[in-house]
Amino acid sequence: MKLLTLAMAAAAAAATATPGERVKTGLDVLIESDYAQLQDRKVIVLTNPTGITRQMDLGVDVMFESGAVDLVGVMGPEHGFRGTAQAGGSEGSFEDPKTGLTVYDAYLANTTELMGFIEESGADTVLFDIQDVGARFYTCKFIFHPPDIWAMYDTMIAAAKTNATFTVIDRPNPITGLDAFGPVLNESFITSYVGRRPIAQAHGMTVGELASMFVGEGWVSEAADNSSLSLEVIKMENWRRSMTFEQTGLPWALPSPNMPTVDTAMLYPGTCMFEGTSISEGRGTTRPFELLGAPWGNESWALAMRDLDIPNTQYRFQCFTPTADDFQGNVSCGLQAYADPRSIKELETFDAPYVGVSLLYTARKLYTVDNSTGEAPTTGAFHWIYSGGSRSLYNIDVLVGSPLVREGIESGLTPDEIREAWTPRLDEFRERRKKYLLY
Ligand SMILES: *[C@@H]1O[C@H](CO)[C@@H](O)[C@H](O)[C@H]1NC(C)=O
Ligand SMILES: *[C@@H]1O[C@H](CO)[C@@H](O)[C@H](O)[C@H]1NC(C)=O
Ligand SMILES: *[C@@H]1O[C@H](CO)[C@@H](O)[C@H](O)[C@H]1NC(C)=O
Ligand SMILES: *[C@@H]1O[C@H](CO)[C@@H](O)[C@H](O)[C@H]1NC(C)=O
Ligand SMILES: *[C@@H]1O[C@H](CO)[C@@H](O)[C@H](O)[C@H]1NC(C)=O
Ligand SMILES: *[C@@H]1O[C@H](CO)[C@@H](O)[C@H](O)[C@H]1NC(C)=O
Ligand SMILES: *[C@@H]1O[C@H](CO)[C@@H](O)[C@H](O)[C@H]1NC(C)=O
Repeated sequence: MKLLTLAMAAAAAAATATPGERVKTGLDVLIESDYAQLQDRKVIVLTNPTGITRQMDLGVDVMFESGAVDLVGVMGPEHGFRGTAQAGGSEGSFEDPKTGLTVYDAYLANTTELMGFIEESGADTVLFDIQDVGARFYTCKFIFHPPDIWAMYDTMIAAAKTNATFTVIDRPNPITGLDAFGPVLNESFITSYVGRRPIAQAHGMTVGELASMFVGEGWVSEAADNSSLSLEVIKMENWRRSMTFEQTGLPWALPSPNMPTVDTAMLYPGTCMFEGTSISEGRGTTRPFELLGAPWGNESWALAMRDLDIPNTQYRFQCFTPTADDFQGNVSCGLQAYADPRSIKELETFDAPYVGVSLLYTARKLYTVDNSTGEAPTTGAFHWIYSGGSRSLYNIDVLVGSPLVREGIESGLTPDEIREAWTPRLDEFRERRKKYLLY
């Protein structure tokens, strides 16, 4: 037993970066260079609590204390610059008590407002430093909250239109950068906050690579009335695409209240689709996007998932009482999903969107008592949530970026057949993505 433990520890150590080749984020590289790249620049920083050094200090604080960077302001995205707001709330614009810097409220800001922040601060450079989680629709519940990579995209457009340089501090893709998975957003869905450009649901890229794609594909200039953007990426050192976040040895700061761990991030590109259904995605528990359930759920679901035998996943029957959000205060039953890909082979084939579709497929089979126009009662059964109104959309379609998953399930396709349906466009994306990979 003891020997086995030692052997396992040795194997784990071998997979991790050795001290000589520690992973350095773009921020660590920038600091080590004594901010060479930012000399003679006026810098506004778009960041959140994940913009930290290896020593866990906030990048803005470190730059401010160094006196070596001419900081002219900070833009805080959804959860605020120091992360004090819960989902749906936001910090207003204010003076940061610690540094005296003006913090602009980039939450829900449109391009014109973002341009205003850049101009008002007098910045000639926008420095982006936010840890992404690798999913197209991150962060947060449905269309009300601009996800971080799309906050980046919008700010890139604003930077192009104000002739500011956009500098991305690169960080790892926490669910590895081995491959892309899942449906690619259909262009007819680009108006939504959860997806603005045709990328895969799990994109397998770093933010620096994504920014390069946004520019390289002409998307930024197209959206910026043909203004071109000067983009710089401060690359990481020693990061390999196959590294899990754990193997980087970097500290994890929760990117949003409902993304507490790297395990959450691993399943999120699949389980987030439950936001488009009557089943709770586990918000209001300490394991969102792993716990899924409803008052009418039961142990049959976990058993049905086990029967599908999806590699590197496990399912356990669990009831929970959400303290907020769907089914608040009511016992909901369903399952906890576990993902444990470890080897490179397992990681490069781990397909979270496929796991998500399989969960939808089994839930739909077990718990639909009505038809699924989405107008069925909101309690008592599985159904797709329909936004109605002028948008006339199913929430799941907005998340997926096309009706493919919902229509596939409704027409009786299996998870494998649904995956086959999205594979042609995914393969195109995989090809397109290649020229932007920096590592
Ligand atoms: C951007 O937001 C501002 C303030 O809410 C609003 O006045 C303006 O019309 C918006 N611009 C666009 C292009 O939507
Ligand atoms: C844009 O900025 C660059 C360098 O920051 C400068 O050389 C150029 O003249 C500017 N262009 C305009 C149109 O302001
Ligand atoms: C996007 O959706 C439209 C309407 O459903 C469809 O006609 C079109 O083929 C789709 N495009 C792609 C590239 O899948
Ligand atoms: C941008 O350039 C394209 C191609 O040259 C042109 O068709 C389009 O009208 C331009 N758009 C703007 C807003 O200038
Ligand atoms: C919880 O259950 C009670 C009793 O069935 C019901 O009245 C209430 O609407 C439920 N609350 C939520 C948030 O589902
Ligand atoms: C779970 O619920 C479904 C739908 O109501 C039902 O068909 C199934 O028999 C239930 N399973 C158990 C073990 O009670
Ligand atoms: C589904 O349910 C809705 C609302 O109850 C009803 O209007 C519709 O006709 C039903 N559709 C089918 C195909 O049964």
